[in-house]
Amino acid sequence: MRKITIAIDGFSSCGKSTMAKDLAKEIGYIYIDSGAMYRAVTLYCLRNNLFNDDGGIDAVALEKHIGDIKISFRLNDITSRPETLLNGENVETEIRTMEVSSKVSIVAALGFVREALVKLQQEMGKNKGIVMDGRDIGTVVFPDAELKIFVIASAEIRAKRRYDELTAKGQTVSYEEILANVVERDRIDQTREVSPLRKADDAIVLDNSDMSIPEQKIWLKNVFDKVTNV
Ligand code: DC
Repeated sequence: MRKITIAIDGFSSCGKSTMAKDLAKEIGYIYIDSGAMYRAVTLYCLRNNLFNDDGGIDAVALEKHIGDIKISFRLNDITSRPETLLNGENVETEIRTMEVSSKVSIVAALGFVREALVKLQQEMGKNKGIVMDGRDIGTVVFPDAELKIFVIASAEIRAKRRYDELTAKGQTVSYEEILANVVERDRIDQTREVSPLRKADDAIVLDNSDMSIPEQKIWLKNVFDKVTNV
């Protein structure tokens, strides 16, 4: 069967990764979490003290070092889940902390960061057979993707999901802080000058506010079957 490119975009914490990962596994495609790549660059910035006390970033220093930041993925042998590597080091857990979450939008708004990561993402998808999730996958990274999904859910539901996910991992977090972070990231993601979050004209909208994970999985597989069986 011919392989296609699948772009899944949407707001933060709306369950994109879960459904994208599950579909990729089921149909034997590569899965790429593009948000993890922006998070890995953010972690690099934190480790190298590139954030100023006022919350801004030393973009000049980051641009100088952007070529030194190597991001890759590998499948965990035991869980079969993808892990993000920053210069060869597994940073999958570290890139999911609140510290990274609260700074990542600033990094993702930098044109030269986006340019470098989009190039890498396009390279990863050049042979198709890929499911990639993010904010600009259907609009910028793969504008010709055969299947584009745009996922939405209310901010409160998304914050609750993130809260449950982090507490399940043993992190102590506050729901109010997460909700504020979700709302602020929505604002920055939608209003940034470079590649703001928007639905591609040919994307299918999925509001999963009231859907369970298995329901989303079935919905996505049905849409995939329709597109590939024509
Ligand atoms: O999906 P996520 O929450 O892990 O993404 C982290 C951040 O990266 C999010 O605030 C927006 C940004 N991002 C982006 O700008 N473009 C992408 N393709 C993916 C993520």
